[in-house]
Amino acid sequence: MTVLGVVGAGTMGAGIAQLGAAAGMRTLLHDPVPEALEQGAENVRRGLGKWIEKGRIGQEAISLLEPVSGLDALSPCELVIEAAPERPELKRDLFGALSMVCGDDVVLATNTSSIPVTSLAGAAARPENVVGMHFFNPPPLMPLLEVIRADQSSDDAVEMAKSVGAAMGKEVIVAADGPGFLVNRCGRPFNGEGLRLLQERVATHEQIDRICRLGGGFRMGPFELMDLVGIDVGFEVAKSFEELSFGEPRWRPNPIQARMVAAGRLGRKTGRGYYEYADDGSYRPDDPDPPAPGADSLALALLGDGPLADGLRERARAAGHELREGGPAELVVDAGVRPAQSVPGGAPLVVLCASGSLAARGESGAVGFHLLPPLDDARLVELTRLPTTQRFACEAAESFFAGLGFLTEWVEDAPGLVLGRIVSQLVNEAAFAIGEGVGSADDVDTGLTLGLSHPRGPIAWSEAIGLDHVVAVLDGLWNERHEERYRVAPRLRRSVALGRALSE
Ligand SMILES: NC(=O)c1ccc[n+]([C@@H]2O[C@H](COP(=O)([O-])OP(=O)(O)OC[C@H]3O[C@@H](n4cnc5c(N)ncnc54)[C@H](O)[C@@H]3O)[C@@H](O)[C@H]2O)c1
Repeated sequence: MTVLGVVGAGTMGAGIAQLGAAAGMRTLLHDPVPEALEQGAENVRRGLGKWIEKGRIGQEAISLLEPVSGLDALSPCELVIEAAPERPELKRDLFGALSMVCGDDVVLATNTSSIPVTSLAGAAARPENVVGMHFFNPPPLMPLLEVIRADQSSDDAVEMAKSVGAAMGKEVIVAADGPGFLVNRCGRPFNGEGLRLLQERVATHEQIDRICRLGGGFRMGPFELMDLVGIDVGFEVAKSFEELSFGEPRWRPNPIQARMVAAGRLGRKTGRGYYEYADDGSYRPDDPDPPAPGADSLALALLGDGPLADGLRERARAAGHELREGGPAELVVDAGVRPAQSVPGGAPLVVLCASGSLAARGESGAVGFHLLPPLDDARLVELTRLPTTQRFACEAAESFFAGLGFLTEWVEDAPGLVLGRIVSQLVNEAAFAIGEGVGSADDVDTGLTLGLSHPRGPIAWSEAIGLDHVVAVLDGLWNERHEERYRVAPRLRRSVALGRALSE
C-alpha cells in the first residue's frame, strides 16, 4: 500500500488527503497548527463520509486517514505532497526538513500554483525526487491534475506523481516548469486580453462578459471570474508572470488591476469589484434567450470562404434568404477573413472585422461584425459601426443576424472585436507554449477544458475557426497597434505556412 503524506491541512491539503484515503492509500495528514489539523481532518472525514454514503468508496477509507502533529511522523511516506501557504521560503524550509525526515527515495511534491518548482527542488537533499502536483480547487471535485517536471525531476519521480494522480481518479497532464506551468499560462489571455479590451474601451466589462458567455459558450466572462478569484490575487499572479519572464509583453499586468486594488475593490469578497454584489450574491441580470430564427427573405450576397462564411450561408439559406453570387442584392455580407476583391454596390454592407478594424477597411458606410464558428454554439454576434455609418445599415445588420437566431451586441471597432481577439490570443498562447515545449497540444486542451472549464481548448478552437482566421486577427492587431503582445507565435506561423494543424 502506498503511504502518502500531506503537509498543510487547509483547503487544498484536506482535499488531497481525501483523495488519497479514497484511493486506498494510508494517508498521513500534517499541519503544525493544531486547530488547522483538527479542522482539516474533520473536513476529510466529512468528505469521505459523503462518498461512502453514495457508495463510491468503502467504509475502510476513514481509517486510512491519520492526522499527525509532528513532521517526523511522515518518515514512512513514499510520496509527500505539500499544500502549505504560498511562500517560497516556507516551502523551501519544508523540503529541506522533509529530506531529513523521510527516506532517500521519497518523492516530494508541491501543490504550488506559481512558485517555480525548480527553485523549490534545489532545497531538497535529492532535487531529482521533486515534482509539482498542481491540483485544482476543490481537489475532490476538479477532474484534472497537472504534474510539473522541474529541471531536475527524474522520470521516476514524474511517473510516481502521474500514477498516484491516476489512482486518485484524475486526468493527468504533464507540464514543464515555467510561469503558470501549462494551464494557468495558456488560460492567461482570457483575463489579460479582457482587461486590454476594457482599457481600450472597446466594450464595457458587462459586455465583454456577456459576449464571452453567449458568443463563446464560456461559463463566465473574465471580469466575473476575476471578481470571484479576487482582483488582488489576480494582480499578484500577473506581477509574478512578468517577473518570472523578465518582462514578456503579453504578460504585463494591467494598470486597471492596480487601480482596483488601490481602491479596495477586490471582487466578491469585498462586495465590490468590477460588479457590485447584493447580499444574496447576485450581481447581474440573467442572460436573454436568442430570438427564434425566421426573417423576411432577402436577396443576399454572402461573400468569403472558410468555416464562418460557410456556416453563415447555411444559416441564411435555412432562414429563407436567396443567395446571389455577386449580382444585385438587398444586403451584402462579406464574411471572408480578408476583404473581398470586389463587393457589389447599392446595398447595405456588413463586413467581418478579422484582419483589420472597420475603420482600417475604409468603407465609410459599412457595419462591422464578428462571431466565431462553430455557429451552433454561438448565440451572439458582435456589431460595430463608424461615425459615418447610417442608421438604416445598422438596422439592416441587426435584423439580418436576429433573423438567423442571434442576439446582437454593439461594441467599438477593433480587429476581431471582443471574442475574436480573446480567442485568437488563447490560441496564440497555446502555440507559444507548445512551441516552447511546455506541454503537448492534447494536454493544453485537456488542461483548459478540465482545469478552467473552457467550452473547448485552444487547439479545438483553432480547428473550428481555422488558423487563417486566428492569424488574420493577430496580424490585424499587430498592424494597427504595433505591440509585441500581438506577435504571432513561431509555431502558429509555421503551421499556417505548412498548411498543417497546430496539433501536428
Ligand atoms: N486554494 C486554491 O485555489 C489553490 C489552488 C491550487 C494550488 N493552491 C496552492 O496550494 C497551497 C495551499 O493553499 P490553500 O488554499 O490550501 O491554503 P490554506 O491557507 O487553506 O492552507 C494552508 C495550511 O497550511 C498550514 N501551514 C502553515 N504553516 C505551515 C508549515 N510551516 N508547514 C505546513 N503547513 C503549514 C496552515 O495552518 C493551513 O492549514 C498553496 O501553495 C497554494 O498556492 C491553492
